Amino acid sequence: MQKLFLIVSLSFLIFSCKQNTVQKPQQHLVSDTAMVVSANRLASKTGIDILKQGGNAVDAMVATNFVLSVVYPRAGNIGGGGLMIIRTPDGKATALDYRETAPLKAHKDLYLDESGQVIEGLSRNGGLAVGVPGTVAGLYAAWQKYGHIKDWSKLVMPAVELAEKGFAISESEAHRLNKYKDDFLKWNPDNKTFIKDHWLKGDILKQPALAKTLRMIAGKGPEAFYEGPVAQAIVDKVTKSGGIITLEDLKKYKAKFRNPIVVPYKDYTVISMPPPSSGGVALGQLLKIVSHYPVKKWGFHTYKTTHLMVEAEKRVYADRAEYLGDSDFYPVPVDTLLDDAYLEHRMADFDPLKATPSDRIFAGEFELHKESFETTHISVVDKNRMAVSCTTTLNSNYGSKVIVDGYGFFLNNEMDDFSAKPGVPNQFGLIGAEANAIAPQKRMLSSMTPTIVTKDGQLFMVLGTPGGSTIITSVFQTILNVIDFDMNMYDAVQAKRFHHQFLPDYIMYEKKTFDKAVMDSLKQAGHKLKQVKYMGIVKAILVKDGKLEGAGDSRNKDDDVEGY
Ligand code: DON
Repeated sequence: MQKLFLIVSLSFLIFSCKQNTVQKPQQHLVSDTAMVVSANRLASKTGIDILKQGGNAVDAMVATNFVLSVVYPRAGNIGGGGLMIIRTPDGKATALDYRETAPLKAHKDLYLDESGQVIEGLSRNGGLAVGVPGTVAGLYAAWQKYGHIKDWSKLVMPAVELAEKGFAISESEAHRLNKYKDDFLKWNPDNKTFIKDHWLKGDILKQPALAKTLRMIAGKGPEAFYEGPVAQAIVDKVTKSGGIITLEDLKKYKAKFRNPIVVPYKDYTVISMPPPSSGGVALGQLLKIVSHYPVKKWGFHTYKTTHLMVEAEKRVYADRAEYLGDSDFYPVPVDTLLDDAYLEHRMADFDPLKATPSDRIFAGEFELHKESFETTHISVVDKNRMAVSCTTTLNSNYGSKVIVDGYGFFLNNEMDDFSAKPGVPNQFGLIGAEANAIAPQKRMLSSMTPTIVTKDGQLFMVLGTPGGSTIITSVFQTILNVIDFDMNMYDAVQAKRFHHQFLPDYIMYEKKTFDKAVMDSLKQAGHKLKQVKYMGIVKAILVKDGKLEGAGDSRNKDDDVEGY
């Protein structure tokens, strides 16, 4: 009897421990039929479940997104926004913009004091940092136009269940929840869900308030979010936290389908995000510039290739600062920026032996803001080779840190992506001008670069990444790694990265990117170099020999590829 009791208790103990273990994600997979890559195993698995139930890539992307809003609250969201590229099996591609908008009461000088100086932190923390959220409207618009599963609630319920039952948090989530505790407390002193003495890996995070909100969205769609009690709670909390969002702002929010940027690169076609992202234009410019040089012959991470890429990046990011913004408000010269003759002219002063200094036009040097940041990306391919590339964000980790009371979700701090004042950098060190000045209902400029690459009219690659200003160059490098440097998807994603964004005038690089000789040559040419911890967390799928190769990024231990 005693023995039996011991066996029963032991099995119970093993079972409960098992429940709290965070299952190890897989970051590399080859499969035949369909695939989802995201920042969390539970999210990728949900996407695959939806595909197996007959859903298409858009259905899977929607369900994966909602689960990320539960299991990856630092970036997965319903209080933020995103951008996506959808390519249907017949080869048609669309861009969907569900970027946040500036509130109706916003104006150009929103973050300036009486003497015209930017008030530090105001666009990043608290209610005034919050843009009108676009995620729920965007996911619904994508499903309405492209979804295959008839019942919308099926795509939201997996998230409801996870929020209700809870899930074991990963080490990196525990680390971040602890790190931002004081910020959570500042804006949400009574919150019991996210604030705890000390989070540990494997702790169960239950979110009953978020479950309630998601259940409402499952039942009524966006109306449950943009009108009624949730909308009222958003307005109340934003107002209490110093912000200006109104019920009218929420009611007026619309996701927008747009024409993607389509650029040829060698035998490939690159399809990416138009304004209000700078991603597609900048990526297109970079690819077009390097296509005129023998980078394949020069080789991966050699002086010649790196110097060329960096010099191209400087010019492209200078253009970004001047000309890019929401094209519904500012005439962004997309065609000119991508024009071959313009780009040739832009590189006319390129010196293969010398770095061109950046500070001729914009004076001054500055440091990037120290706060760590996070966004997230989902890549999906379904059995018909329909593909979705979707990047979504709250901007910083947990956005503005403001949680909507009673409804359990974080609000973004996307307003920091506007240019608060010409030439004054945001948290990514990015500067802007009139094109990206604040105006009511305008969308703030993004660097998010959800991208799909095709070859001979067939799907070739789906990719994207978080990383603020380094998003564009991370996508750029991953594409070159596969096309020019013959890497498989996994190696292309893990490869070390570097980045130059015009200002500050230095090459950011990850440890061990360059060997000593290359470093010396770069310095000799006049480049300044600065080592950073990491940049980009790419999630990508490559179609090769009829199979799908998926890769998560080891820079985020939680990245996970699922497929069948
Ligand atoms: O839209 C943008 O460009 C930024 N809000 C993205 C922020 C981001 O990638 C932060 N994460 N790493």
